[in-house]
Amino acid sequence: DAQRVFDDIDRQFTLGPDTLVELTGAFLDEFKVGLDNYNHPMAMIPSFVTGVPDGTETGTFLALDLGGTNMRVCEVVLHGDTTFSLRQQKYKVSDALKTGEATVLFDYLADSVDAFLTSHPPADTTAEHRNPFAAPDPDVVHLGLTFSFPVEQTALGSGKILTWTKGFSAKHAIGNDVVKLLQDAFDRKHMHVKCVALVNDTVGALLSRAYTAGGCMLGAIFGTGTNGAYVEDVANIRKLANDPAAARGGSMVVNTEWGAFNNSRSHLPSTPFDNALDRQSINPRFQAFEKMISGMYLGEITRNVLLSLVDAAPKSLLFGGKTATALNSQWGFDTSVMSAVEEAWEGKDLAGAAGNPAPQLSEFENPEKLNAAVKSRLERVRAVLVKELAYKDDEISLRDAAIVRWACSMVARRAALLSGVAVATVLIQTGRAVFPGKGGKPTKNEPKIGVGVDGSLIQFYPHFEETLRESLRHVVGAQVEKRVEIGMAKDGSGVGAALCALQAIKQL
Ligand code: BG6
Ligand code: GLC
Repeated sequence: DAQRVFDDIDRQFTLGPDTLVELTGAFLDEFKVGLDNYNHPMAMIPSFVTGVPDGTETGTFLALDLGGTNMRVCEVVLHGDTTFSLRQQKYKVSDALKTGEATVLFDYLADSVDAFLTSHPPADTTAEHRNPFAAPDPDVVHLGLTFSFPVEQTALGSGKILTWTKGFSAKHAIGNDVVKLLQDAFDRKHMHVKCVALVNDTVGALLSRAYTAGGCMLGAIFGTGTNGAYVEDVANIRKLANDPAAARGGSMVVNTEWGAFNNSRSHLPSTPFDNALDRQSINPRFQAFEKMISGMYLGEITRNVLLSLVDAAPKSLLFGGKTATALNSQWGFDTSVMSAVEEAWEGKDLAGAAGNPAPQLSEFENPEKLNAAVKSRLERVRAVLVKELAYKDDEISLRDAAIVRWACSMVARRAALLSGVAVATVLIQTGRAVFPGKGGKPTKNEPKIGVGVDGSLIQFYPHFEETLRESLRHVVGAQVEKRVEIGMAKDGSGVGAALCALQAIKQL
């Protein structure tokens, strides 16, 4: 019967504690494969960043950031007392640029930097301050590039693009050095800008959190995409064995590219709704983990769930069988709408709804009998849906609102629980926690475990961090989870790129 349809979907999206632990085990195995070998999808990329800042760093840099919701150009001034100032301009990158010729994309990036330099002339015009390390050419401006895609780095300032993710597919880019692509574009325009450093956004988040908070072991992004970078012992990065870095020892930041965890989906609990998304994506069979977690995809999974209910036979279970245009189009239901639905349900104070059982259809047989508080919350959800999906008010019932709210929260909850698995894996990998049941004790016991985060999901989605922590507790236990301090890596990409540029020019 109808109720069974809801319960069945709900079951497919539910992750019990045992599954979370099992996924962590598979994650640890894949970490090892990536640390030992090149060309693994979860690439475990050595960043060549060997030191984590302590807040005393100084300098003025330009930073360019590509790969999140916005492209940005910023000027960052590191004051050396854990503070910084930043001026930035955001730009949109059109689908045509994302999927066209790489040279056109990189020309656009160079033009944006040029426009920024014109509209934001350096605040301090003394060449020394603008570019303290630039001798012999004081007119050259140093730039750090935050490029939030998998890049096999060979040094702080060079690396080949391995693959595109998150809807990008620009032609003639893969296999090329991304710093060279950008530098060539600057040179074509005769700009006095030199790209000296390349960082992933996760590495940027780690560095900037370390700069402002005095320590950080993991930088993680939960936004359009998801990924994490952490501080690893060089000795554990076995694929670097023949690199001079191995002889120097010490530690190095590794960009995990965890969005590609378990692309075979042997462990990830894929549903038909995930499969539909994957099949229609521009990169089927890639980024399996990211497709269950990040902002680019959650709305689409939810849309697939909702459509299955609209189309249910013999009788539609949603919207009286009517699909709105937004629901009919791929990517038509944005993750930000899910967020708005959940906020509407909870009210401004986000008091927290108790659990998320599948809607009990019997409660809606007589809507007049619904509890007044529940009714007013559902009215608010309905208003969001009317606005966002362009249904008419009388085309959405309170029962429809309850169903959509449930679907959003179910898909987002799974995402946050899976995110916790990735964080737990890093804690175990670095000796801060032990794998459940394995015995032994953590080798590191700092009072505070610093994690820097960025991204629209963790910043704005109601209860995302809370649910991520619930998952962490299941895997590493409450004692360790309590010590994990999750903080926003404010302006992570700008500050991270600047810190990396600083490290790079010291080596020039
Ligand atoms: C931004 C950073 O704040 O967050 C980017 O500047 C990063 O480097 C982004 O990629 C991630 O979040 P989202 O939600 O924009 O993908
Ligand atoms: C994607 C990219 C990765 C990036 C992440 C977050 O997973 O491949 O490099 O860090 O998105 O933006």
